[in-house]
Amino acid sequence: MQHIDLSTNIAGIKLDSYLMNASGPRCTSLQELEVIGKSASAAIVTKSCTIAFREGNPEPRYSDLPLGSIQSMGLPNLGYKAYLEMVPQLKSLGKPVLVSISGFSLEENIEMVSAFQNSDIDIIEVNFSCPNIPGKAQVAYDFEQVETALSKLTVLGDKPLGIKLAPYFDMSHFIAMAEILKKFPVKFITCVNSIGNTLIIDPETESPMIKPKGGFGGLCGDYIKPIGLANVRAFRELLPESIQIIGVGGIKNGIDAFEYLLAGADAVQIATCFEKEGANCFSRIENELKAFMDKKGYNKLSDAKGKLKPL
Ligand code: SIN
Repeated sequence: MQHIDLSTNIAGIKLDSYLMNASGPRCTSLQELEVIGKSASAAIVTKSCTIAFREGNPEPRYSDLPLGSIQSMGLPNLGYKAYLEMVPQLKSLGKPVLVSISGFSLEENIEMVSAFQNSDIDIIEVNFSCPNIPGKAQVAYDFEQVETALSKLTVLGDKPLGIKLAPYFDMSHFIAMAEILKKFPVKFITCVNSIGNTLIIDPETESPMIKPKGGFGGLCGDYIKPIGLANVRAFRELLPESIQIIGVGGIKNGIDAFEYLLAGADAVQIATCFEKEGANCFSRIENELKAFMDKKGYNKLSDAKGKLKPL
């Protein structure tokens, strides 16, 4: 096999490979983050943090499904100050560290983004799309709120800041969101978060699979790959190159990762597959992607990035 170079960057921060973990599974404690640091993940991505420690939603709040999972975790995390304190230890593992932030108000997001702007963190991802907090709407579906938030959050420092978006399903929404993003120095978008408020019913028990919110939760895995691909593709066509795109949703093998590359992703994140398989998934998917690219005669990401062929 020829040498295949999967190196990429987000806002100039070099990544040795195209694959990293997604904020979500197995990235809450220092121990879990160290496992990611020692794996083939190109970066260490933290669980979305809030101002204070959160237990999260009542259990059962996660269920494996044949083609993915449903979850309503409710952002269990250690509180942002714990992640701030961990930054030196995480950085010592020798790869970029991306903190995910998920405040419950603009003021909370300003407090947390400011704190991480004054740290050694490499990249900041603000999560506008958690569907699992009872009584809290997803910011990503409130376009006015997104615009106001970006006007305040993008002036707090020089570290690259991006936002994690909910999936959109209508062209008018892609266009409206792209117009907002273009007004601000947003460095990247991560798309997509889970499809929120889905319901999986167990016909045997006649109950939902998970407890929070009457069983309504975020759908993940294979079920959402076509939606993730469409969101990456639509935004790639609408946004300038200065706004990069991290693809997420249903990547469990090298070919899935390649499809996101064709759609235009600069890097991808792995969630459900990492939850189910553990940290070996990063090297396995990396090797599968390299083998597939080799078969195609491609030896670097730019050979295929964004080059979906029209029919
Ligand atoms: C959760 O903790 O509920 C999942 C986080 C998210 O969907 O952003």
